[in-house]
Amino acid sequence: MTKKESFQLEFEQHVEKGLSAFPKFLSSKYIYDDRGDELFQQIMALPEYYLTNAEYNIIHQYKSELRALFETTKGFDLIELGAGDGKKTKVLLEEFHVHATNFTYIPIDISQHAIDNLSTSIKNIYPKMEVHGAQGTYFKVLEALSRFNKRPKVIIVLGSNIGNLPHREAIDFLKQIQKIMSPEDTLFMGFDQKKDPYTIQSAYADSTGVTQEFNRNLLHRLNREMNADFTVHKFEHWEAYDPENGTAKSYLIATEECEVTIKKLNLKVHFNKWETIHTEISQKYDDLTVEWLAKESGLQISQIFEDQEKLFKNYLFKKK
Ligand code: AVI
Repeated sequence: MTKKESFQLEFEQHVEKGLSAFPKFLSSKYIYDDRGDELFQQIMALPEYYLTNAEYNIIHQYKSELRALFETTKGFDLIELGAGDGKKTKVLLEEFHVHATNFTYIPIDISQHAIDNLSTSIKNIYPKMEVHGAQGTYFKVLEALSRFNKRPKVIIVLGSNIGNLPHREAIDFLKQIQKIMSPEDTLFMGFDQKKDPYTIQSAYADSTGVTQEFNRNLLHRLNREMNADFTVHKFEHWEAYDPENGTAKSYLIATEECEVTIKKLNLKVHFNKWETIHTEISQKYDDLTVEWLAKESGLQISQIFEDQEKLFKNYLFKKK
């Protein structure tokens, strides 16, 4: 089975399970086709979506300190999981370039499109930089990464991508990274922080409606790829941030009773008026929670970097 076929099979099984369940659910990882990637780029440019700028500011402010922490006499491999357009990482690449740092950049993303664009743009700016992009899901790629053990690894995961996983899955993810780390390796990861609930609520329920379109892309995708007949505009985006546990949850809500057919799955799904599909969690953290995640995964926090507005933090982890 090709990579594409096994992804498609997994996607179909997920949709069958999620839309037959009560309450209904679908995973946000399936939002990201070409249109989903484009909508996420638009989200990152929204003034309400503070995460991108906050993390950019951290990397910008601490770039020379980070270089000093990452540099070794043998050089290092900079492995980025979920590289996307690399906007924030390019700040580090520039810093490494200016200081003639000895490193290889290995960006990894689920989207081949993103990897190709990023590799080309880096080659244009820094023709001599060593870049080896790889396409794949985190878990598949992590297996392949265990072969990179000739010199220290710096693994970076930006954007609070970990927040899209419930704690148990986040721990599994961290454990997989921990397993392929040697004692001299470093993990540098972004975690969006708990803050004024209003700020979080606005980031995920923006006034322009881009986030609604992003969320609805799941249904467009089912219409396109599985021959479904969702009347997409009848499903409204809803965001609920719970300040007690730090979880922001996204839903699509049926505003009318309806019956949807997903031809490819031979499935009919009934929606009552106001019935929900839970589509995404975006977890917000504090130091205690990150310490707990680290402990459960065999990692320890060695340093914490925070932006001046105290919105976001990047943590450096070592293997325990
Ligand atoms: C990719 N991920 C970290 C984003 C987040 O903040 O959870 C996805 C997103 N969903 C709605 N807006 C942005």
